[in-house]
Amino acid sequence: MATIRRCNYSTMSIASYLRLWLRFFYILHAVDASTAAQAKQVYIAYLGHRSSLDPSRIEAEHHQMLAAATGSDVAAKDALIYHYKHSFRGFAAKLSKDEASTISRMAGVLSNFPSKGRTLQTTRSWQFLDVEKETSININPNSPTSNYYLWLKAKFGRDVIIGLLDTGIWPESKSFQDDSLSPIPRRWNGICENGSQLNASHCNRKLIGARMYVKGYEQMFGPLNITATGEYLSARDKDGHGTHTSSTAAGNFVADANTYGFGNGTAKGGAPRGRISMYKTCWPVLPNPEGDNSVCTEADMLAALDDGIHDGVDLFSISIGNSNPQRIFSEDAIAIGAFHAILKGIAVFCSAGNDGPTAATAFNLAPWIVTVAATTIDRSFPSPAILGNGTVLKGESISPYKLGDQFYPLIFAGSAGMDNTDASQCLSSSLDPVKVKGKVVLCMRGQGTRVGKGREVLNAGGIAYILGNSPSNGREVSLDAYVLPGTAINADDTVIAQEYIRLCRNAQVKIVPATTVVGIKPAPVVAAFSSRGPNSLNPDIIKPDIAAPGVNIVAAWTKANSPTGLPSDHRRVAYNIISGTSMACPHAAGAGALLKNIHPTWSPAAIKSALMTTGKLVNNLNQPITSASGKEAGPFDFGSGEVNPIAAADPGLVYDAKLKDYLLFLCKVGYKSSEIKLITGKKLSCDPKPPSISDLNYPSVAVTNLKKFKTVTRTVTNVGSMGTYNVTVQAPPGISLEITPNTLQFGAQGERRRFKIKLRVSQSSKGKYVFGSYTWFDGAHVVRSPIVVKSR
Ligand SMILES: *[C@@H]1O[C@H](CO)[C@@H](O)[C@H](O)[C@H]1NC(C)=O
Ligand SMILES: *[C@@H]1O[C@H](CO)[C@@H](O)[C@H](O)[C@H]1NC(C)=O
Ligand SMILES: *[C@@H]1O[C@H](CO)[C@@H](O)[C@H](O)[C@H]1NC(C)=O
Ligand SMILES: *[C@@H]1O[C@H](CO)[C@@H](O)[C@H](O)[C@H]1NC(C)=O
Ligand SMILES: *[C@@H]1O[C@H](CO)[C@@H](O)[C@H](O)[C@H]1NC(C)=O
Ligand SMILES: *[C@@H]1O[C@H](CO)[C@@H](O)[C@H](O)[C@H]1NC(C)=O
Repeated sequence: MATIRRCNYSTMSIASYLRLWLRFFYILHAVDASTAAQAKQVYIAYLGHRSSLDPSRIEAEHHQMLAAATGSDVAAKDALIYHYKHSFRGFAAKLSKDEASTISRMAGVLSNFPSKGRTLQTTRSWQFLDVEKETSININPNSPTSNYYLWLKAKFGRDVIIGLLDTGIWPESKSFQDDSLSPIPRRWNGICENGSQLNASHCNRKLIGARMYVKGYEQMFGPLNITATGEYLSARDKDGHGTHTSSTAAGNFVADANTYGFGNGTAKGGAPRGRISMYKTCWPVLPNPEGDNSVCTEADMLAALDDGIHDGVDLFSISIGNSNPQRIFSEDAIAIGAFHAILKGIAVFCSAGNDGPTAATAFNLAPWIVTVAATTIDRSFPSPAILGNGTVLKGESISPYKLGDQFYPLIFAGSAGMDNTDASQCLSSSLDPVKVKGKVVLCMRGQGTRVGKGREVLNAGGIAYILGNSPSNGREVSLDAYVLPGTAINADDTVIAQEYIRLCRNAQVKIVPATTVVGIKPAPVVAAFSSRGPNSLNPDIIKPDIAAPGVNIVAAWTKANSPTGLPSDHRRVAYNIISGTSMACPHAAGAGALLKNIHPTWSPAAIKSALMTTGKLVNNLNQPITSASGKEAGPFDFGSGEVNPIAAADPGLVYDAKLKDYLLFLCKVGYKSSEIKLITGKKLSCDPKPPSISDLNYPSVAVTNLKKFKTVTRTVTNVGSMGTYNVTVQAPPGISLEITPNTLQFGAQGERRRFKIKLRVSQSSKGKYVFGSYTWFDGAHVVRSPIVVKSR
């Protein structure tokens, strides 16, 4: 408008100007009206710390803001979805863009951002990324948490309450029986919400809380269709994922747990006597031809975190991801909720994501979160495929079905498509039954789900399938309880199988039935799917932080879904084997729960530090842990290493971080003093200029914009006995590294010592990351921190 007036007023008659103005106005108005009608969406207004107001005053204030933005009390009531009022302040409301921007400009509003849908880190969440994903959780006898001595010391985690945000829980699973559990800790405030097929009578001394959050989902996807989804409007788990993660974190001991006999053993969580509170925030999205496909909205997750903190959980385990690019912390519901959790002493564990091995794919990046990568364990399920010419391809499988002990015709799906189309991925309705009938089909991984490919082969009349890794999957195979006989082969073997089929007119194959083998070497190996660093928001904080088992993990399952999640699959199992960083996260959380039981006064940062500085770097061949590619793993693959709960229980020193440390970090990433006051209610001047992000008292060190030299500081707190620590340094190539002082003496527990790390470029890394480490050692405790440096 202003432009029109300035440019055209003098040369235009008043009438024509008015006409133009009216037309322009009308167009703007029309556009406005239609966006207002169509584009209302859920926004989350984040208003910082809770202050001392009582909840009803907080609600009244939120209402005033909404009324001002929407124009009336009635509209404000309609718009409101959640008040966040117990543990921090804010609200979720359905707003037009204009209303949202009005709220963004109001005093006291730190951020006002659209509530996004997030995904579970499971194999079957195909819809949002259109590529195959992995799930993760674990209960296996070889898990690093299965050490009896540590369990005794940690009383099996009995005093710790783990809160999970997930798809719900199957209360009847044996993993959630409460035999030999002491009474529920008296400080517990949570409830078992009444709902569909779940109420207080389903809770016990193991499952002590169960709530559901669906309003954010329903605003985004419409009312949950119970008929079509088979869902429960309660914390009961239709999907299976939440039952799996819960039992991995804190499932009770269950003998003879297995999936069709595979992985048979005693199932148990990291904290077998720990308590579980389930916050169901993830719901299915239709259509789901390839099986379950859940979404968890930020509005719902923030409500769950608000309640969970108030309920009194000690630790959160959140196996929920995020698509890239990552949003800043004040526009990321998990980061906001986690921040207020750690201020209350609640540690927060999150999955790093299943988008690896591509660089910079890790999410849940806030420095107050423990970000967990996934590794393999030393168990495998060999099911070799023997080609007609005698070559044996190592395969792995947990299919309950067996092919006869003879050769069968083998074809490549790429040449078995309908109308000669490329069906190499075996996507739904792509295979030609005439070509497939009675044959074993080689299907490629990539698009769609692994189990869905098997379903397609079966539908087209095939008798078995071989799932071939694409080069990006490398040597790693992720397993599922297929709906037909089959085995999964690595990328090299896939190339051999394809060549064999191409060269042989009558290609044939025999598939040897799978067995469970333990003691596999090397293990652990960092999973190819596990998301990698560097940290895409703040490269000067290394992410992920640690790694834990997340490949082919046995844990409890719902009785309301099949092991594959395919709607056409009507089988039911009590325990299922799945993979993903979703499975790694509750392993790390279970380990954290044990530490919390042994050291109830430790801060979340201390727990995280203990897990990180004691991380395992070598595999069961006593060689450096590698990635699935065979390359030695580094900080961007597994952070500080594989969790090692026994060592973490007695770390010697910890890098603690308090509110002030995180506030300085917030200053440095651009928050103003006034905003920090809102976030925490505490005054903190961001002037003079805070130290760099690299100076956050983190258990690892990253300096990614190193010019000539830089000094960063750290402070360690003695949590062990009196003693003297010496430092040893492994400088990154081209960097000289000096630590002063190089000896630290400690008398009593709780003593703190500061030291400086001086980095100097002797040879530029030319924009590449280089890796090193430094380690404090007192003769008993090894306190190691990885270092990442990038210089111009
Ligand atoms: C619990 O929910 C069911 C429906 O799911 C309802 O019939 C029942 O009255 C509710 N009970 C209580 C105590 O609210
Ligand atoms: C709780 O659920 C059980 C089993 O479904 C049912 O028998 C009972 O009536 C329910 N209790 C309430 C209070 O709704
Ligand atoms: C719910 O799903 C059923 C079965 O798919 C369908 O018949 C029905 O129309 C759906 N209801 C709504 C409200 O969409
Ligand atoms: C699992 O192991 C137990 C104990 O070794 C054994 O009794 C049981 O038969 C096994 N179950 C299966 C399905 O292999
Ligand atoms: C079988 O065929 C494949 C593909 O051509 C080949 O790589 C392999 O060496 C053959 N095996 C034998 C034993 O000849
Ligand atoms: C630390 O260094 C001092 C001096 O070199 C040495 O006497 C001491 O044994 C070292 N301590 C350890 C645990 O290596």
